[in-house]
Amino acid sequence: MITSPNGTPLSALTYGTMQFGSNADAAESQAMFDAARAAGITHFDTAYVYNGGASETLLGQMVQAERDNLIIATKAAFEGGSTRQIILDGFQTSQQRLQLDVVDILYLHRFDDNTPLQETFDALATLKHSGKIRYIGVSNFAAWQVMKAQAIAAKFEMQIDIVQPMYSLVKRQSEVEIFPACVDQGIELAPYSPLGGGLLTGKYAAGETGRLTVDPAYKARYDVEWMRNAAKGLSALAADLDVHPATLAVAWTMAHPARPKTIISGRSAAQLQPSVDALEFNMTAELYDRITALSVTPAPATDRLEEA
Ligand SMILES: NC(=O)c1ccc[n+]([C@@H]2O[C@H](COP(=O)([O-])OP(=O)(O)OC[C@H]3O[C@@H](n4cnc5c(N)ncnc54)[C@H](OP(=O)(O)O)[C@@H]3O)[C@@H](O)[C@H]2O)c1
Repeated sequence: MITSPNGTPLSALTYGTMQFGSNADAAESQAMFDAARAAGITHFDTAYVYNGGASETLLGQMVQAERDNLIIATKAAFEGGSTRQIILDGFQTSQQRLQLDVVDILYLHRFDDNTPLQETFDALATLKHSGKIRYIGVSNFAAWQVMKAQAIAAKFEMQIDIVQPMYSLVKRQSEVEIFPACVDQGIELAPYSPLGGGLLTGKYAAGETGRLTVDPAYKARYDVEWMRNAAKGLSALAADLDVHPATLAVAWTMAHPARPKTIISGRSAAQLQPSVDALEFNMTAELYDRITALSVTPAPATDRLEEA
């Protein structure tokens, strides 16, 4: 079980700081951190690559006052490969920016085809066995990569503690193999982008702008007709229920039987609030099924649809 240094468990939602130091300045970032803490969120996610280090630096300033109550996660090796040197050098920088002797969770940010996992986990073992990190995570790994990493980690008397995949009503691939693999292995899940980068707020159908209109990668990921239709369906359902579509979108991810600790985020405290409200939202089985039916359920791994 993942806990903070004083034994506080992971909260049902995680707060992601990818906007700290970019779309959110220091004051707005602090307002979002405070809102997350007021809602009982104990788990905060950042990465070496976010905003040239500004995300780690700002988060580091915020956590000092109650560090032992919190679970702080960062990620290494998004760029340059998961070599021993990239991991150890990057982690040292992350540690300095975060002003932390001990970082709770260190993720590999992505799978690296070119570096043997033996080398990667040798570096992670150096950090773990010297007490500089408490838990190991992997992000953007396929399920077979998680299991391969799990086998290598065991050679170093470690295990994968948490996995961070993409997951939302319009990105459901994780349901097929990653979620079942993690449940089987007792690995925590902290999925990211529950709003599809903002698509599921309904704002694009209303003609508004945001990440999907300015970031080509997010436009390519989510500017797809069936996804836009799913977002419209979610907004219509939300209007009927008098709730914000973002609340429904986040609550839907949380209600998956694997009980993922979904990562929420925003550019302002006002924007964040509907996502935070998912903590109190009563997702009935009937509503869960109605929302699920708005998108495409991925085929089972065996492709034997008739047995699913
Ligand atoms: N491991 C990885 O590779 C990876 C990748 C991505 C994210 N993450 C983590 O997951 C966290 C969450 O990811 P995400 O930011 O992609 O999550 P998301 O919830 O899918 O998207 C959040 C974005 O949606 C828009 N939004 C949110 N609430 C809104 C509202 N009420 N009204 C209108 N627009 C709203 C904002 O973007 P705009 O205002 O710009 O439109 C906001 O930044 C990140 O902070 C990071 O920690 C990890």
